[in-house]
Amino acid sequence: MKKSFKLSAATDLRLFSKLDRSDVHQYERSNGRKVAWLMSVLTVAGQKGGSGKSTLVRNLAIHFALDGYRVGIVDADLIQQHSTEFFADRGREGGREVWVARTDVPKLTIKVWDRSVAKIPEARIVLAPQADQDSIGEIIQALTDALDVVICDLQGSASVAMIHAIHYADLVLIPVQPSNDDLKSCHSTAKHVIHAGKSARRTIAYRVVFSRASTGFKPEVERVVEEALESAGLPRLKTPVFERTAFKRASFSRIAPIFDDPEGGAAKNISAVYAEIRSILAGVTHAIAEGG
Ligand SMILES: Nc1ncnc2c1ncn2[C@@H]1O[C@H](COP(=O)(O)OP(=O)(O)OP(=O)(O)O)[C@@H](O)[C@H]1O
Ligand SMILES: [Mg+2]
Repeated sequence: MKKSFKLSAATDLRLFSKLDRSDVHQYERSNGRKVAWLMSVLTVAGQKGGSGKSTLVRNLAIHFALDGYRVGIVDADLIQQHSTEFFADRGREGGREVWVARTDVPKLTIKVWDRSVAKIPEARIVLAPQADQDSIGEIIQALTDALDVVICDLQGSASVAMIHAIHYADLVLIPVQPSNDDLKSCHSTAKHVIHAGKSARRTIAYRVVFSRASTGFKPEVERVVEEALESAGLPRLKTPVFERTAFKRASFSRIAPIFDDPEGGAAKNISAVYAEIRSILAGVTHAIAEGG
């Protein structure tokens, strides 16, 4: 049965309501008018390698896409391309590297944006590999014009690309593992976000994401890191990402926990992380405007 909804009452239809994006497409078609959406750009950054950025990017992209949003993934890790690799196969064509999108991801269409063509492909997940510091701004801009959510995966180091991606972000996520090295890098990344906000004369929302947390008894190192984040006043996602074998397994199988074991701990964990991020985005994005 078709859901009914009142656009005028919506503060942020895109992120706040329970509606699937396809309901809105249907509304647009049947009413002959377009709903103007506000884009969300999520930047997953951190100067520490291996903190769980790409794992978060891949899983969040899938959760947004399954919820009906059209998602762009900007892969700015020029060396590893871990987000792209998860959704596409690497090949060579006429001496240059090409990515071929996977067709075996359940329920989702995936396409790679060949940037020699201006048009962004139609798909639930659009991949933009090899986003370097010179092109990343234009790539984010182009994807935000065409899609609903753009997620940027950065290299584990401070970079010009990272600063650009922070400037475009509605929300920056900084994964931090329970270690002192991670803690220091996290402080530094948070400072970049704050300074980027000052230079852009706006507040750029950010959250530290406690990454690879223990599922059982909380070890002392985790309590120390939590207290340090608290006393430094760094805002944190309430839901941590737990250390789960399912995330590692997915790095081999390329089957995300939500497909591999939807009732398992990893899938439930990412669903909770996703729900929290959505509600933060609903708070930081503005009311939608309805085009007439
Ligand atoms: N929550 C988790 N539970 C178990 N393993 C994890 C988790 N998060 C990440 N890993 C594993 O840790 C490794 C590094 O994770 P990931 O690639 O997501 O980090 P990254 O921050 O993107 O690293 P880099 O800075 O090198 O890009 C991977 O092998 C991944 O499978
Ligand atoms: Mg990575």
